[in-house]
Amino acid sequence: MADPVSQTEDQDWAAVCASAELGDEEMLTARVGEWQILMVRSGDGLSAFNDCCPHQSARLSTGRLRRGAIMCPLHGARFDIGSGRCVGAGYAPLLRMPIRERNGIIEVAPPPRSPAPDEIPKDA
Ligand code: FES
Repeated sequence: MADPVSQTEDQDWAAVCASAELGDEEMLTARVGEWQILMVRSGDGLSAFNDCCPHQSARLSTGRLRRGAIMCPLHGARFDIGSGRCVGAGYAPLLRMPIRERNGIIEVAPPPRSPAPDEIPKDA
């Protein structure tokens, strides 16, 4: 996995689930405020993204996780689960969010703003 996005103590961390709820090579979603968050665990790596494809705002969590990438359910674009970068197509990268585990709890820190219209999954 790529380097995690920067983390600081003064970010607005939100506890979203127990660590045990997100298994290896699994995806899990949570809602924090207006943000729909997609969390992915792979080996020692943990990533959090906005659960919205940058192409046409499909909900990525309804896609598949395979070979280190999330595949969009609508047009099949693939996004690296470490960096969020689009693999094999020219779409923008996924919006990554800081994520950490503390005392058996997963916490995320979504941006301190509301999502833009194109950052909200179409079926939300
Ligand atoms: S909406 Fe995701 S690839 Fe088109």
